This record gives sequence, structure tokens and C-alpha cells, in this order.
Amino acid sequence: MDAFRIIGGCRLSGTVRASGSKNASLPLIAAALLTDRPVTLADVPDLSDIRNMLNLMGELGCSIGKQAHEGGSTTIELHADPDGSSHAPYDIVKTMRASICVLGPLLARRGFARVSMPGGCAIGDRPVDIHLRGLRALGAEIELDQGDITARVPRGGLRGATIFLGGPFGSTVLGTANVMCAAALADGTTVIESAACEPEIVDLAHMLRAMGAHITGDGSPRITIHGVSSLNGVSHTVMPDRIEAGTWICAGAMVGDDLTITNCPMDSLLALTSVLEPSDISIELLDPTSPQRSTVRVRRAGTIRPAVVTTQPYPGFPTDIQAQVMALLALADGNSIITERIFPDRFLHVAELSRMGATLNRQGPMVVVSGVKALHGAPVMASDLRASASLVLAGLAATGTTTISRVYHLDRGYERMDERLQSLGADIERFKEVRK
Ligand code: EPZ
Repeated sequence: MDAFRIIGGCRLSGTVRASGSKNASLPLIAAALLTDRPVTLADVPDLSDIRNMLNLMGELGCSIGKQAHEGGSTTIELHADPDGSSHAPYDIVKTMRASICVLGPLLARRGFARVSMPGGCAIGDRPVDIHLRGLRALGAEIELDQGDITARVPRGGLRGATIFLGGPFGSTVLGTANVMCAAALADGTTVIESAACEPEIVDLAHMLRAMGAHITGDGSPRITIHGVSSLNGVSHTVMPDRIEAGTWICAGAMVGDDLTITNCPMDSLLALTSVLEPSDISIELLDPTSPQRSTVRVRRAGTIRPAVVTTQPYPGFPTDIQAQVMALLALADGNSIITERIFPDRFLHVAELSRMGATLNRQGPMVVVSGVKALHGAPVMASDLRASASLVLAGLAATGTTTISRVYHLDRGYERMDERLQSLGADIERFKEVRK
């Protein structure tokens, strides 16, 4: 299994490009099932989650072309055969629970879908009850059969409805994607109340509109969809990855000398930059004309100040940057409070950061972060995608050597992180860890 060895203390300088968004790419790829015309996606990141998704699409009768480009991004051509299999099997879904986003498109285009119930994962239970509530509201007949969700369109097809997609932790991003895709081909008008407002939903709506869907209100809690009988093919460029970009901003804030980030969606990172505001961190927007794909220079100019951070649905502070900002606030000159409101158990990084000298006190969904002057390198273990990123950031800032095992977690969401950090001056290497 791959591991990283990081010798801390180096400062980052140079330029890194934020990749296309993993979390936008997954539902965009699934949406190719809504049409039997070709769909081309540009700037898709080359990640294991994407490869798993394309593997699933192949199982579902989709032919796939892939062109790799310099710098890692890829262009994917998808062409779905509506007579292909409509069964997303457990052995694929269990590796990536985001596979659930094929449910809505399969149901809407083929009239039937059998998708394995995704299991939980390191950050918590990952129920899909709200997804199913939304699809049932459109008339789908849904049952659970030996761990699989079977969904069938009733005689007469799916019918538009007013649907509430709120839950105890806010709305559901992939649930909104599933319902929006299904409603796009339903008969009549659908209004989604308490829809997810994340930029990835807006990107999906952009692509669906270009395919001929009638969707308004995306990016707000109320999305209106007027169903159409069929959808066309499309060429679409995936939005930049705001979580990866936010991770690079945290890296610059912790150990940046002169780090420039391109293709950076600063317009969707205001919750992060507001947390960094009180600190002596310079974040300079070099081209204010395009906030969705900007070039920004980040430098640590002095003291990191404590903050109070609570994760919330967009546009609140993103849960996917919670672990990374904890590594940063571990070095603040005071006490911070981080409260996780989306996945209350998303704290597997706490024990590992503590091994590096962070002073963290968890009380349920809240962690008090008492800043320390320095973190110290140590052997630590990655547990999930964003916790892994947090440990890399801590290793860069720590004195001494940090080894991070199980970096396959990191490779799910960050392209060649070691190589890109090396090009920025970090002392990091990937090696094969001999299992003891
Ligand atoms: C998306 O997951 C992202 N993944 C996650 O990013 C992200 O953390 C999450 O949204 C929240 O922003 C992708 O887009 C591929 P949710 P999703 O449904 O859609 C509860 C990463 O690190 N819930 O919005 O699966 C759920 O338990 C990943 O890149 C229900 O109760 O998340 C959670 O507490 C991790 N019932 C909350 O809602 C449901 O039916 C938000 O989940 C669905 C969700």
C-alpha cells in the first residue's frame, strides 16, 4: 500500500492549478444515462473515484472514451445504450457510495433501476432515505430487495410533484441531483423545496439545460423543473474543484511563501476566506474579473488567529474543508471551536492530529482546538479523503518527519498530490509501505 513520507518545514512557492471538481463530475457522468446521444465532459479529474464511476457506467451499458491531457485532466466521451443493464451491483457501489447518483437517471430514462444500497463510510452513516422520498414523490415504486434498491416507473411514467428534500442535517446534494435528473424527464412540473444549493448542483443544472431540460432556481433552496420527453447530447466543461482549491489555500495559509493557485473558484470559497480573515495570511486575487476561475496568490505572512467554525450546507462553511482547517487552527495563537453539523462523526483526523502534537478536545460534534506553537512529525494513518488531506497539511507544517499510511484515501480526491507538492518545494515522497 502507498504511503507518504513528508519532512516538514519547507515553504511552498510556485503555481498549482485546481482540478475539475470530483463532486461535480460524478453526477455529471451519471446524467449521461439520461440520453442516448453522446455526452462529452472536459476537465474531468483523473482520480480513483472517477475511474470507479466510469467502471460502473460501463456496467450500465455506456461506451466510454477517454483522452488524457497535460497536467492530469481528462476529457471523457460517454454514450449510453438505453438497453444496457440497469443494475448497479454492490461490489462497485460499496467502493464508492456516490454511485447512488445513477439511480435517478436510470429510473427516468429506462423506467427501472436496481442500485445497491450504499454502505456507511468513515465519516458516518450515509442514509439515502431522502433520495427515495423524492423519487417516490415523482411516482416511483421503490422497494428494498436483498440490500438493493429497486425502483420502477409506474404505468404512465413519472409525474412532476412538489417535493421537500430537507433532512436533520439540511438538504442532500446527491439526493437533489437524483431528483433533478428524474424530474427532467417526468411529465409535468416539479418543485424541489429545500434543495441543495451547492455549486455542484448548479453545474449539473447548467449541463441539463444545455441538454434541453427546463430548470430554474438551481443554487437556491427552490428548484423548478418542467419535464420534457427527451434530452440531447452535450459538451460540458466541469467546474473547478472548490474543495481541492480550498485545500491548496489552507496549504498556502500554513506554509505558503508565494503560492499561486489557478482555476480557483474564489466565489464559492467565501466561508473559508472569512475564517482566515483575522489571520496574517495574504490572499491576493490576481484577476478579479473571473471569480469562478480566478488566479489567487496565498502567503503566510505571520500569525494564525483562532476562529469559530461551524460546518453547514452551502453557502455555509463546507464540511469537506473541516479537517483541513482543523490542521491550520491547530497552529493558531489561541483557542478555536469547530462544530460539525453535516457529519457529526467526521473527526477521524482528530486522533491522528493529536499524535502530531495538536491539542484537541472533542465533545460530541464539537472540537476545541487549543493552538500550539508547533506540530511534530509522527507516523499517522489516513482514514478518509479529507482527513488524509488534513494530515498532509499538518506534515508540511510540522517539524520532523511524518509518514502517512493508506494514502489511497487521498488518491480518491486529489490528483498526484505528492508530485504537485514536490513541484511547489515540499519535501514529500510516495513509497510502498511493507505491511507488517
Ligand atoms: C456530497 O455527498 C459530497 N459528495 C460529500 O463530499 C459532501 O461531504 C456532502 O455532499 C455534503 O456537502 C459528493 O458530492 C460525491 P448529502 P452526499 O446527501 O450528497 C444526510 C467528499 O469528501 N442525509 O448532502 O452523499 C447525510 O447523512 C465527500 O468529497 C440523510 O440523512 O451528502 C449527511 O448528514 C464526502 N438522508 C447530510 O444529509 C439522505 O437521504 C448531507 O448529506 C441523504 C443524506
